[in-house]
Amino acid sequence: MKPLLQLALDHTSLASALQDVEKLHHHVDIIEAGTILCLSEGLHAVRELRARCPEKIVVADWKVADAGETLAQQAMTAGANWMTVICAAPLATVEKALSVAKQHQGDIQIELFGNWTFDDARAWYKAGIRQAIYHRGRDAQASGQTWSETDLNRMKTLSDIGLELSITGGITPDDLHLFRDIAVRAFIAGRALVENPNPPAVASAFHQQIQTIWGSK
Ligand code: 5RP
Ligand code: MG
Repeated sequence: MKPLLQLALDHTSLASALQDVEKLHHHVDIIEAGTILCLSEGLHAVRELRARCPEKIVVADWKVADAGETLAQQAMTAGANWMTVICAAPLATVEKALSVAKQHQGDIQIELFGNWTFDDARAWYKAGIRQAIYHRGRDAQASGQTWSETDLNRMKTLSDIGLELSITGGITPDDLHLFRDIAVRAFIAGRALVENPNPPAVASAFHQQIQTIWGSK
């Protein structure tokens, strides 16, 4: 399957996020209520995105570390299909969140930041998790961290364990070829789309690259 394109909305104001949604929702497959947006504007951000994009997958990127049941209930009731849980969360949090997500026909994605192991990944898989997000953090990127052979090898091992990967962290269309051998569920892009003067043109460049690289696979 070809990778999907996910728009990450990390605005500090819902009004400005909604302006970008208006420009971009026809050009992307998945809409993310980003961590920054939700911390700034609350649950209302998820509700507004669901109301404005009824046909899209909506993700609550909350990077949940505890209270998995309550927060998944909040996210799904507000209209999210998927919610993120941070890799450092206890397995009990992952299991509780997943159980609630499944009751809503939704899903949980594990956010891979910092320290995690392949044993963790196997435990998530055993608990029913099928999606993870391979993330280069904003701050890591700003301090010069690039995508390395080590990242690609870790991605391949995660795929072999059975986890579908979404990839994010300052991704641009020119980066996609790096991941040509990975079975990617979605590329998640925020700044590359919303900080460009012509966001639909960048979305189109993402889709063209995806078609070129994965179209015949
Ligand atoms: C940061 C995030 C962002 O939503 C993700 O990195 C996508 O945004 P960008 O393309 O601007 O990096 O979750 O923690
Ligand atoms: Mg995000």
